Amino acid sequence: MSNARIELLKSQGRALVTGASRGIGHAVALKLAALGFRVVALGRRFEPAAFPGCGDIEPLVHDLAECEGLAALAAGLGPISVLVNNAGVMHPNTWRDYPMETRARSLKVNLVAPVELMRLLAPGMLAAGGGSIVNVASIAGYIGHPDVWYGATKAGLLNATKSFALQLGAGHVTVNAVAPGPVETDMLAVIPPERQAMLRNGAVTKRFSTADEVAEAVLAMAFGPAQVTGATLDICAGAVLR
Ligand SMILES: NC(=O)c1ccc[n+]([C@@H]2O[C@H](COP(=O)([O-])OP(=O)(O)OC[C@H]3O[C@@H](n4cnc5c(N)ncnc54)[C@H](OP(=O)(O)O)[C@@H]3O)[C@@H](O)[C@H]2O)c1
Repeated sequence: MSNARIELLKSQGRALVTGASRGIGHAVALKLAALGFRVVALGRRFEPAAFPGCGDIEPLVHDLAECEGLAALAAGLGPISVLVNNAGVMHPNTWRDYPMETRARSLKVNLVAPVELMRLLAPGMLAAGGGSIVNVASIAGYIGHPDVWYGATKAGLLNATKSFALQLGAGHVTVNAVAPGPVETDMLAVIPPERQAMLRNGAVTKRFSTADEVAEAVLAMAFGPAQVTGATLDICAGAVLR
């Protein structure tokens, strides 16, 4: 990580982390605060003691399925120099049984909201002279997934990462992604035990990643060299080698 870049980004604005009430996003928010960032932590609900004595973290309650409200939300944030699009949902539905409402929610939370936040916050980053965006996708984005809309939205997010990297690079805004395999968070509950065993066995470490390990990877992508943009870092212990 580049300390000079971290200091510059801290001076240019706050960090926004979506899905920061628990899991990977919570770990990312804590690490950013520990680096001295002022952090906006977005989620639908927060435990009263979500961030005890953890530095400057402001919880912000918003349901990302309400995409229509994102413009007003972004306008009220002030300068944002780091955006971590982390919130995501996975459903137990198969392709045979996928209600339209569930599909709409997957599309909005996993794809429309992160792309909208990039669109809404990028102008401020460009005006400030730079910024950093990290999208939390999944290996499902290139190997597919039993929740077909989960896999499809993560593939879309990986593609949007490249599109925005190309559009924003000249303005010193890097746009990267991480693609975790299974991570020890609440989301694992959606994956049946047999599939979990198969996935765990595919990792050379024979274990799942922790939220903390993925958060470290997010920060590595957020504060890496300027030449690293449009890139995806896999975090799956060799379960998928591209
Ligand atoms: N865990 C895995 O195995 C794994 C693997 C690959 C990729 N990922 C990706 O990693 C990211 C984080 O997942 P996680 O494992 O940390 O899952 P998690 O523990 O289930 O946390 C999900 C986070 O997203 C937020 N969220 C969900 N729907 C939202 C909505 N409509 N509006 C606002 N926030 C919403 C949740 O907030 P609430 O508390 O309000 O629900 C929570 O903070 C996701 O994008 C996921 O797809 C996870």
